[in-house]
Amino acid sequence: IKKIGILTAGGDCPGLNAAIRGVGKTAILKYGMKVYGFSSGYLGLINGEYRKLDEKSLSGILTLGGTILGTSREKPFKQGEYEDYIGSKPDRILENYDRLGLNALICIGGNGTMKTAGKLQELGLNVIGVPKTIDNDVWGTDMTFGFDSAVNIATEAIDRMHTTANSHKRIMVVEVMGHHTGWLTLFSGVAGGGDMIILPEIDWSPEVLKEYLLRRLDAGKPYSIVVVAEGIKLPKKRSKKKPESAGAVLAGMIQNLTGIETRETILGYIQRGGTPSPRDRIIATELGAYAAGMAANREFGRMGAYKGYNLVSVGLDEVAGKIKYVPTDHPLIQHARSIDTCFGDGMP
Ligand code: F6P
Repeated sequence: IKKIGILTAGGDCPGLNAAIRGVGKTAILKYGMKVYGFSSGYLGLINGEYRKLDEKSLSGILTLGGTILGTSREKPFKQGEYEDYIGSKPDRILENYDRLGLNALICIGGNGTMKTAGKLQELGLNVIGVPKTIDNDVWGTDMTFGFDSAVNIATEAIDRMHTTANSHKRIMVVEVMGHHTGWLTLFSGVAGGGDMIILPEIDWSPEVLKEYLLRRLDAGKPYSIVVVAEGIKLPKKRSKKKPESAGAVLAGMIQNLTGIETRETILGYIQRGGTPSPRDRIIATELGAYAAGMAANREFGRMGAYKGYNLVSVGLDEVAGKIKYVPTDHPLIQHARSIDTCFGDGMP
Protein backbone atom coordinates (compact mmCIF):
# COMPACT_ATOMS: atom_id res chain seq x y z
CA ILE A 1 0.00 0.00 0.00
CA LYS A 2 1.63 3.23 -1.16
CA LYS A 3 -1.03 5.90 -1.33
CA ILE A 4 -4.05 6.47 0.86
CA GLY A 5 -6.80 9.09 0.94
CA ILE A 6 -8.53 10.41 4.08
CA LEU A 7 -11.82 12.22 4.45
CA THR A 8 -14.05 13.37 7.31
CA ALA A 9 -17.82 13.25 6.66
CA GLY A 10 -21.10 13.95 8.48
CA GLY A 11 -21.55 16.28 11.45
CA ASP A 12 -18.23 17.36 12.93
CA CYS A 13 -17.07 16.58 16.46
CA PRO A 14 -14.07 17.16 18.70
CA GLY A 15 -11.22 14.74 17.91
CA LEU A 16 -11.43 14.70 14.11
CA ASN A 17 -8.04 16.37 13.72
CA ALA A 18 -6.51 14.02 16.27
CA ALA A 19 -7.79 11.12 14.14
CA ILE A 20 -6.51 12.63 10.87
CA ARG A 21 -3.13 13.11 12.57
CA GLY A 22 -3.22 9.53 13.93
CA VAL A 23 -3.93 8.02 10.51
CA GLY A 24 -1.62 10.35 8.58
CA LYS A 25 1.45 10.27 10.80
CA THR A 26 1.28 6.49 11.23
CA ALA A 27 0.86 6.00 7.48
CA ILE A 28 3.78 8.28 6.65
CA LEU A 29 6.21 7.53 9.48
CA LYS A 30 5.55 3.84 10.15
CA TYR A 31 4.54 2.58 6.73
CA GLY A 32 6.15 5.08 4.31
CA MET A 33 2.84 5.81 2.57
CA LYS A 34 1.78 8.99 0.77
CA VAL A 35 -1.35 10.57 2.26
CA TYR A 36 -3.99 12.72 0.55
CA GLY A 37 -6.77 14.58 2.34
CA PHE A 38 -10.09 15.20 0.55
CA SER A 39 -12.04 18.39 1.28
CA SER A 40 -15.59 18.48 2.68
CA GLY A 41 -16.28 14.78 3.07
CA TYR A 42 -17.52 12.85 0.04
CA LEU A 43 -17.90 16.13 -1.89
CA GLY A 44 -14.12 16.42 -2.26
CA LEU A 45 -13.96 12.85 -3.50
CA ILE A 46 -16.65 13.56 -6.11
CA ASN A 47 -15.11 16.85 -7.25
CA GLY A 48 -11.47 15.76 -7.04
CA GLU A 49 -10.60 18.34 -4.39
CA TYR A 50 -7.70 17.12 -2.34
CA ARG A 51 -4.27 18.04 -1.03
CA LYS A 52 -1.22 16.12 -0.03
CA LEU A 53 -0.78 15.82 3.74
CA ASP A 54 2.81 15.69 4.92
CA GLU A 55 4.16 15.35 8.42
CA LYS A 56 4.35 19.12 8.80
CA SER A 57 0.72 19.71 7.87
CA LEU A 58 -0.29 17.07 10.41
CA SER A 59 1.61 18.74 13.25
CA GLY A 60 0.00 21.04 15.78
CA ILE A 61 -3.56 19.88 15.08
CA LEU A 62 -4.09 17.41 17.94
CA THR A 63 -5.98 19.84 20.15
CA LEU A 64 -7.87 21.69 17.39
CA GLY A 65 -11.65 21.36 17.22
CA GLY A 66 -13.48 20.83 13.92
CA THR A 67 -11.67 19.24 10.99
CA ILE A 68 -8.82 20.71 8.90
CA LEU A 69 -10.30 18.87 5.90
CA GLY A 70 -13.82 20.23 6.26
CA THR A 71 -16.92 18.04 6.19
CA SER A 72 -20.36 17.78 4.58
CA ARG A 73 -23.44 15.60 4.67
CA GLU A 74 -23.05 14.72 0.96
CA LYS A 75 -24.49 11.27 0.12
CA PRO A 76 -23.01 10.27 -3.25
CA PHE A 77 -25.38 7.35 -3.77
CA LYS A 78 -28.47 9.54 -3.53
CA GLN A 79 -29.61 10.39 -7.07
CA GLY A 80 -29.06 14.08 -7.91
CA GLU A 81 -30.44 16.45 -10.54
CA TYR A 82 -27.83 16.87 -13.27
CA GLU A 83 -26.28 13.43 -12.96
CA ASP A 84 -26.83 12.29 -16.58
CA TYR A 85 -25.08 15.39 -17.82
CA ILE A 86 -21.99 15.36 -15.57
CA GLY A 87 -21.82 11.64 -14.88
CA SER A 88 -22.98 9.88 -11.75
CA LYS A 89 -21.29 10.72 -8.49
CA PRO A 90 -20.08 7.15 -7.81
CA ASP A 91 -18.49 7.11 -11.30
CA ARG A 92 -16.70 10.36 -10.61
CA ILE A 93 -15.47 9.01 -7.27
CA LEU A 94 -14.09 5.92 -8.98
CA GLU A 95 -12.37 8.09 -11.61
CA ASN A 96 -10.74 10.35 -9.00
CA TYR A 97 -9.62 7.39 -6.89
CA ASP A 98 -7.99 5.76 -9.93
CA ARG A 99 -6.52 9.00 -11.32
CA LEU A 100 -4.75 9.62 -8.00
CA GLY A 101 -3.59 6.01 -7.89
CA LEU A 102 -4.99 5.47 -4.40
CA ASN A 103 -4.66 2.05 -2.80
CA ALA A 104 -7.05 2.75 0.08
CA LEU A 105 -9.49 5.32 1.39
CA ILE A 106 -10.02 6.05 5.10
CA CYS A 107 -13.50 7.41 5.83
CA ILE A 108 -13.89 9.03 9.24
CA GLY A 109 -17.54 9.49 10.18
CA GLY A 110 -20.74 8.27 11.77
CA ASN A 111 -23.54 5.98 10.66
CA GLY A 112 -24.25 7.71 7.33
CA THR A 113 -20.55 7.81 6.46
CA MET A 114 -20.13 4.09 7.20
CA LYS A 115 -23.11 3.26 4.97
CA THR A 116 -21.53 5.16 2.05
CA ALA A 117 -18.12 3.65 2.85
CA GLY A 118 -19.66 0.16 2.56
CA LYS A 119 -21.15 1.03 -0.83
CA LEU A 120 -17.81 2.38 -2.08
CA GLN A 121 -16.18 -0.90 -1.01
CA GLU A 122 -18.79 -2.78 -3.08
CA LEU A 123 -17.94 -0.49 -6.00
CA GLY A 124 -14.36 -1.76 -5.88
CA LEU A 125 -12.52 0.82 -3.75
CA ASN A 126 -10.46 -0.34 -0.75
CA VAL A 127 -12.23 1.35 2.13
CA ILE A 128 -11.59 1.52 5.89
CA GLY A 129 -13.97 3.20 8.35
CA VAL A 130 -13.13 5.14 11.51
CA PRO A 131 -16.14 5.80 13.80
CA LYS A 132 -16.73 9.28 15.20
CA THR A 133 -19.74 11.14 16.59
CA ILE A 134 -20.88 12.98 19.69
CA ASP A 135 -23.93 10.67 19.61
CA ASN A 136 -21.97 7.43 20.36
CA ASP A 137 -24.54 5.61 18.22
CA VAL A 138 -22.33 3.83 15.68
CA TRP A 139 -23.15 0.16 15.67
CA GLY A 140 -20.24 -2.28 16.17
CA THR A 141 -18.09 -0.12 18.45
CA ASP A 142 -18.39 0.50 22.18
CA MET A 143 -16.90 4.00 21.84
CA THR A 144 -16.79 6.79 19.29
CA PHE A 145 -14.56 9.80 19.75
CA GLY A 146 -16.37 13.13 20.13
CA PHE A 147 -18.73 11.65 22.70
CA ASP A 148 -16.59 12.25 25.78
CA SER A 149 -15.96 15.91 24.90
CA ALA A 150 -19.68 16.47 24.31
CA VAL A 151 -20.50 14.80 27.65
CA ASN A 152 -18.10 17.23 29.33
CA ILE A 153 -19.65 20.27 27.66
CA ALA A 154 -23.24 19.21 28.34
CA THR A 155 -22.39 18.32 31.94
CA GLU A 156 -20.87 21.73 32.57
CA ALA A 157 -24.01 23.34 31.14
CA ILE A 158 -26.27 21.23 33.37
CA ASP A 159 -24.10 22.06 36.40
CA ARG A 160 -24.76 25.72 35.75
CA MET A 161 -28.53 25.17 35.66
CA HIS A 162 -28.64 24.15 39.32
CA THR A 163 -27.80 27.56 40.78
CA THR A 164 -30.12 29.59 38.58
CA ALA A 165 -32.90 27.02 39.04
CA ASN A 166 -32.46 27.26 42.81
CA SER A 167 -32.46 31.07 42.84
CA HIS A 168 -35.79 31.20 41.00
CA LYS A 169 -37.29 27.95 42.33
CA ARG A 170 -37.89 26.84 38.77
CA ILE A 171 -37.83 23.68 36.74
CA MET A 172 -35.09 23.84 34.12
CA VAL A 173 -35.36 21.64 31.03
CA VAL A 174 -32.06 21.10 29.20
CA GLU A 175 -32.19 19.65 25.68
CA VAL A 176 -29.17 17.58 24.68
CA MET A 177 -28.20 16.34 21.17
CA GLY A 178 -27.84 12.67 20.24
CA HIS A 179 -29.96 12.27 17.08
CA HIS A 180 -32.23 9.24 17.62
CA THR A 181 -30.35 7.92 20.66
CA GLY A 182 -29.96 8.92 24.31
CA TRP A 183 -26.27 8.20 25.08
CA LEU A 184 -25.25 11.84 25.45
CA THR A 185 -28.36 12.68 27.48
CA LEU A 186 -27.93 9.71 29.80
CA PHE A 187 -24.23 10.30 30.51
CA SER A 188 -24.39 14.10 30.88
CA GLY A 189 -27.71 13.81 32.73
CA VAL A 190 -26.23 11.50 35.35
CA ALA A 191 -22.93 13.44 35.54
CA GLY A 192 -24.79 16.75 35.89
CA GLY A 193 -27.16 15.46 38.58
CA GLY A 194 -30.32 15.67 36.46
CA ASP A 195 -33.40 14.76 38.52
CA MET A 196 -35.29 13.51 35.50
CA ILE A 197 -33.70 12.11 32.32
CA ILE A 198 -35.89 11.57 29.27
CA LEU A 199 -34.44 9.31 26.54
CA PRO A 200 -35.76 8.23 23.12
CA GLU A 201 -35.30 4.61 24.19
CA ILE A 202 -37.66 4.79 27.20
CA ASP A 203 -41.37 5.60 26.82
CA TRP A 204 -42.42 8.39 29.17
CA SER A 205 -45.78 9.73 30.24
CA PRO A 206 -46.85 13.27 31.25
CA GLU A 207 -48.59 11.86 34.35
CA VAL A 208 -45.33 10.40 35.66
CA LEU A 209 -43.49 13.68 34.97
CA LYS A 210 -46.12 15.60 36.93
CA GLU A 211 -46.26 13.20 39.85
CA TYR A 212 -42.47 13.01 40.23
CA LEU A 213 -41.86 16.77 40.00
CA LEU A 214 -44.65 17.59 42.48
CA ARG A 215 -43.36 14.90 44.83
CA ARG A 216 -39.95 16.62 44.82
CA LEU A 217 -41.63 19.91 45.70
CA ASP A 218 -43.56 18.25 48.54
CA ALA A 219 -40.29 16.78 49.82
CA GLY A 220 -38.90 20.31 50.19
CA LYS A 221 -36.77 20.35 47.03
CA PRO A 222 -37.43 23.76 45.56
CA TYR A 223 -36.18 23.17 42.01
CA SER A 224 -35.70 20.37 39.49
CA ILE A 225 -33.47 19.72 36.51
CA VAL A 226 -34.93 17.78 33.59
CA VAL A 227 -32.44 16.58 30.95
CA VAL A 228 -34.09 15.59 27.68
CA ALA A 229 -32.76 14.10 24.44
CA GLU A 230 -33.54 15.98 21.22
CA GLY A 231 -34.82 12.73 19.67
CA ILE A 232 -37.60 11.76 22.13
CA LYS A 233 -41.05 10.88 20.85
CA LEU A 234 -43.37 13.86 21.27
CA PRO A 235 -47.16 14.02 21.43
CA LYS A 236 -48.79 14.67 18.03
CA LYS A 237 -48.51 18.30 16.94
CA ARG A 238 -51.64 20.40 16.80
CA SER A 239 -50.46 22.83 14.13
CA LYS A 240 -48.30 22.39 11.03
CA LYS A 241 -45.97 25.23 11.98
CA LYS A 242 -42.21 24.69 12.08
CA PRO A 243 -41.09 21.71 14.18
CA GLU A 244 -40.81 22.44 17.89
CA SER A 245 -37.82 21.26 19.87
CA ALA A 246 -38.22 18.51 22.44
CA GLY A 247 -36.99 20.88 25.17
CA ALA A 248 -39.58 23.56 24.37
CA VAL A 249 -42.45 21.10 24.13
CA LEU A 250 -41.53 19.45 27.40
CA ALA A 251 -41.03 22.75 29.25
CA GLY A 252 -44.47 23.98 28.14
CA MET A 253 -46.07 20.71 29.12
CA ILE A 254 -44.39 20.63 32.55
CA GLN A 255 -45.40 24.20 33.38
CA ASN A 256 -49.02 23.44 32.43
CA LEU A 257 -49.12 20.21 34.40
CA THR A 258 -47.35 21.35 37.58
CA GLY A 259 -48.01 25.08 37.67
CA ILE A 260 -44.30 25.55 38.45
CA GLU A 261 -42.42 28.14 36.40
CA THR A 262 -40.36 26.23 33.83
CA ARG A 263 -37.65 27.31 31.37
CA GLU A 264 -35.87 25.44 28.59
CA THR A 265 -32.29 25.62 27.31
CA ILE A 266 -31.32 24.01 23.99
CA LEU A 267 -27.58 23.26 24.12
CA GLY A 268 -27.22 22.83 20.35
CA TYR A 269 -23.91 23.11 18.52
CA ILE A 270 -21.73 24.13 21.46
CA GLN A 271 -21.77 20.37 22.15
CA ARG A 272 -19.84 19.77 18.91
CA GLY A 273 -17.37 22.64 18.99
CA GLY A 274 -13.99 23.25 20.53
CA THR A 275 -11.04 21.27 21.70
CA PRO A 276 -11.34 17.50 22.31
CA SER A 277 -11.13 16.07 25.84
CA PRO A 278 -7.98 14.08 26.73
CA ARG A 279 -9.98 10.85 26.43
CA ASP A 280 -11.22 11.75 22.93
CA ARG A 281 -7.69 12.67 21.86
CA ILE A 282 -6.56 9.23 22.98
CA ILE A 283 -9.43 7.34 21.33
CA ALA A 284 -9.04 9.30 18.07
CA THR A 285 -5.26 8.84 18.01
CA GLU A 286 -5.55 5.10 18.67
CA LEU A 287 -8.34 4.54 16.14
CA GLY A 288 -6.43 6.60 13.57
CA ALA A 289 -3.17 4.69 14.04
CA TYR A 290 -5.12 1.41 14.01
CA ALA A 291 -6.81 2.34 10.71
CA ALA A 292 -3.42 3.04 9.08
CA GLY A 293 -2.34 -0.40 10.28
CA MET A 294 -5.49 -1.92 8.76
CA ALA A 295 -4.54 -0.30 5.43
CA ALA A 296 -1.01 -1.70 5.65
CA ASN A 297 -2.47 -5.17 6.34
CA ARG A 298 -4.99 -4.77 3.52
CA GLU A 299 -7.92 -5.18 5.93
CA PHE A 300 -10.46 -3.50 3.66
CA GLY A 301 -14.24 -3.20 3.87
CA ARG A 302 -13.97 -2.93 7.65
CA MET A 303 -14.24 -0.33 10.41
CA GLY A 304 -11.84 0.07 13.35
CA ALA A 305 -13.77 -0.38 16.61
CA TYR A 306 -13.51 -0.78 20.36
CA LYS A 307 -14.69 -3.90 22.14
CA GLY A 308 -14.22 -2.75 25.71
CA TYR A 309 -10.74 -1.21 25.64
CA ASN A 310 -9.48 -3.49 22.85
CA LEU A 311 -9.19 -2.38 19.24
CA VAL A 312 -10.77 -4.74 16.74
CA SER A 313 -12.31 -4.42 13.28
CA VAL A 314 -15.87 -5.11 12.13
CA GLY A 315 -17.25 -5.49 8.60
CA LEU A 316 -18.75 -2.32 7.10
CA ASP A 317 -21.58 -4.51 5.79
CA GLU A 318 -22.45 -5.40 9.41
CA VAL A 319 -22.38 -1.74 10.54
CA ALA A 320 -24.34 -0.19 7.65
CA GLY A 321 -27.95 0.73 8.26
CA LYS A 322 -27.89 0.02 12.01
CA ILE A 323 -28.07 2.32 15.02
CA LYS A 324 -26.63 1.54 18.45
CA TYR A 325 -29.40 2.48 20.91
CA VAL A 326 -29.01 2.71 24.68
CA PRO A 327 -30.17 -0.64 26.10
CA THR A 328 -33.04 0.03 28.50
CA ASP A 329 -31.32 -2.19 31.09
CA HIS A 330 -28.02 -0.27 30.81
CA PRO A 331 -26.26 -0.37 34.23
CA LEU A 332 -26.09 3.42 34.36
CA ILE A 333 -29.89 3.63 34.05
CA GLN A 334 -30.29 1.08 36.83
CA HIS A 335 -27.83 2.90 39.11
CA ALA A 336 -29.43 6.27 38.39
CA ARG A 337 -32.86 4.85 39.27
CA SER A 338 -31.46 3.72 42.61
CA ILE A 339 -30.61 7.33 43.50
CA ASP A 340 -34.15 8.51 42.66
CA THR A 341 -33.48 9.70 39.10
CA CYS A 342 -36.73 9.45 37.15
CA PHE A 343 -36.83 8.30 33.51
CA GLY A 344 -40.45 9.29 33.00
CA ASP A 345 -41.71 5.72 32.87
CA GLY A 346 -42.79 5.26 36.47
CA MET A 347 -41.36 6.12 39.85
CA PRO A 348 -37.72 5.19 40.27
O1 F6P B 1 -24.66 13.50 14.66
C1 F6P B 1 -24.28 14.61 15.37
C2 F6P B 1 -25.40 15.59 15.49
O2 F6P B 1 -24.93 16.73 16.18
C3 F6P B 1 -26.68 15.06 16.14
O3 F6P B 1 -26.57 15.01 17.54
C4 F6P B 1 -27.69 16.05 15.61
O4 F6P B 1 -28.97 15.49 15.61
C5 F6P B 1 -27.20 16.33 14.23
O5 F6P B 1 -25.82 16.01 14.21
C6 F6P B 1 -27.36 17.73 13.74
O6 F6P B 1 -27.02 17.75 12.39
P1 F6P B 1 -26.64 19.00 11.50
O7 F6P B 1 -25.19 19.28 11.71
O8 F6P B 1 -26.89 18.54 10.10
O9 F6P B 1 -27.51 20.13 11.93
